[in-house]
Amino acid sequence: MKKIVVLTGAGISAESGIKTFRDSDGLWENYRVEDVATPEAWENNYELVLNFYNERLQQLDKAFPNDGHNYLTKLESHYEVQIITQNVDDLHEKAGSSNVLHLHGELRKKRSQVNPDYILEIDKTENQIKKGDLCPWGQQMRPHIVWFGEAVPLIEEAAKLVEQADIFIIIGTSMAVYPAAGLIYYVKPGIPIYYIDPKANETPNVSKNTIRIAEKASIGVAQLVNELLEKAKNAN
Ligand code: APR
Repeated sequence: MKKIVVLTGAGISAESGIKTFRDSDGLWENYRVEDVATPEAWENNYELVLNFYNERLQQLDKAFPNDGHNYLTKLESHYEVQIITQNVDDLHEKAGSSNVLHLHGELRKKRSQVNPDYILEIDKTENQIKKGDLCPWGQQMRPHIVWFGEAVPLIEEAAKLVEQADIFIIIGTSMAVYPAAGLIYYVKPGIPIYYIDPKANETPNVSKNTIRIAEKASIGVAQLVNELLEKAKNAN
């Protein structure tokens, strides 16, 4: 089976009602990134940071996968599929994708500030990280999110996966945030790269021979998945 590696960003969840970051109505329009998504914000006002992520978590309960997420799962019938997502939502999992690596963390998890390997699922009935929710080392539990200015612990694992790709697909990301955007440089020469995003023709940070599909995820992913499934069937 050929291996498809898919890099997704906020755009794939836009049609599920989750705001992107940098579009004109994006999430960062309403917040200063440095107030809610940096280690300094946590130091200065951890309650504000907790509130921000607890709101995101509650919003997630009302969100469902769209055709973008759903069509990706269909590829698994004829390909080995690895998703690398920059998203902290769980819509790929909800859709049924088997292999999802969360580069920037997960809203549904919390972790210790002292021991980064102490990671827990947030209790479904509480659905929030509470003030006073302490780790075994006596410190407030924090969101399991990679903030601006923090290292991305899974980037090397992601780069290795990208190197193994026979086909690479990028969906709904502005390719503006590194190191995630740099993953494209790990694609082996000659491997087809597809980029699905309404602004696909405007984004400079993809390689010259990338096949650009300037569509919303629900349309563009459905088209490409059908095409790739046809190819796989004809190859057999
Ligand atoms: N379908 C596909 N793409 C869409 C759609 C849609 N329906 N609507 C918008 N988009 C595209 C936009 O054109 C844009 O290119 O989604 C992209 C969203 O870009 P960003 O808001 O920059 O989000 P992303 O690339 O995921 O951001 C990367 O930055 O803020 C940090 O950690 C955060 O993971 C995030 C990272």
